[in-house]
Amino acid sequence: MVAIGSDHGGFGLKQEIMAHLEAAGVPYQDLGTYSEDSCDYPDIAKAVCTAVLEGVCEKGILICGTGIGISMSANKIRGIRAALCTDSFMAKYTRLHNDANVLCMGGRVLGPGLACEITDTFLTTGFEGGRHAVRVQKMMDLEK
Ligand code: RB5
Repeated sequence: MVAIGSDHGGFGLKQEIMAHLEAAGVPYQDLGTYSEDSCDYPDIAKAVCTAVLEGVCEKGILICGTGIGISMSANKIRGIRAALCTDSFMAKYTRLHNDANVLCMGGRVLGPGLACEITDTFLTTGFEGGRHAVRVQKMMDLEK
């Protein structure tokens, strides 16, 4: 199960990603926003990250206009490793090396084709572990 959310700046791309997930048979929970009315991206980041941390969803997808504000917000939450990706290479390596649990994208930055490819790569790539597990642990220790 994937938790997905966006602010108004990412609303259109969220609709595209959800249609793509649906077509691919990937279950998801839409945690808002539900219209193009202005809203605050930290509220959406909190909802999606909470679903991930509580184990309701395995991974999260967050979208705002640039992807920046919502990724900054997500990374303030203990236990979250949110990665802002603008291409599939970043999506692949943030899973392989950083064990990212939340993907962030910019709805005013990416077209739907690329965003769907990034999403697929993020959701299907596993964590490599090994030396990267040591680094991820050191990263998480920075939260203490
Ligand atoms: C909203 O206008 C915009 O600031 C937001 O979507 C995002 O780009 C912030 O980083």
